Amino acid sequence: MNKDIESVKNFWNESYGYNTAVDIKKEDVEPTTIFDKDIAEFSKNASTILDYGCGITFNLYIAHFANPNLKDALGIDPSKNAIDFCEESARKSGFENVHYEVGDIETLKKVRDDSRDFVICSNVLDCVFEKTRNEVVRELYRVTKNSGFFLLKVNFYLDKETALFYHLTAINEHDYAQKGLFRISFYEDEYWINLFSSLGFKLVRKDLYQRQEGIPEDRIFIFKK
Ligand SMILES: C[S@@+](CC[C@H](N)C(=O)[O-])C[C@H]1O[C@@H](n2cnc3c(N)ncnc32)[C@H](O)[C@@H]1O
Repeated sequence: MNKDIESVKNFWNESYGYNTAVDIKKEDVEPTTIFDKDIAEFSKNASTILDYGCGITFNLYIAHFANPNLKDALGIDPSKNAIDFCEESARKSGFENVHYEVGDIETLKKVRDDSRDFVICSNVLDCVFEKTRNEVVRELYRVTKNSGFFLLKVNFYLDKETALFYHLTAINEHDYAQKGLFRISFYEDEYWINLFSSLGFKLVRKDLYQRQEGIPEDRIFIFKK
């Protein structure tokens, strides 16, 4: 299992490749999509933010501009390529309140209880194995402050037949592989909502988000602790 978890991490690290750091200006990250607007909205009153499995997203840069009182935004991802890009870009842009760390569940475990006003986890929990997912879910709940918000984004739901169209092969009822490597788990909304509401999160809102033309919409769930 550990070998499989590492293969997934390697897949993502290689898919990001090496990217040269950029100097980010406010106009570069003006929120226009529903997802970016959600990030900006929930960052506005958050002095501490966590983006778990951040990849090479600009979420914390959006937060930086949305909230002049932002104290500490942390992005964690196992991909060194992604984190080098994000961290170097944050330094180049002079964002003193935004930092990134290469890491996984072990790094997440070091984040203090009830310490984050806003927690983001976008397209990560459906891209990891169930065992990892269940551990991460508990940790994300633990680090979210009471009355804090949690934004979960997961990919679209596909049934077995449609998954085949996307060259995904079923490993079991929910998990799918591409070229022999685990890539994604498909669950309907109820599963994702229950995963977090059973811990004590309350669902505030659900949105759909067209991440890319020609593919079904991602699902955004906003929870409050
Ligand atoms: C589909 S990408 C999503 C990245 C980003 N959050 C986004 O919305 O574009 C999945 C991310 O999960 C990360 N990842 C893979 N295995 C992980 C693990 N065991 N723990 C934490 N993150 C993991 C990958 O490095 C990758 O950045």
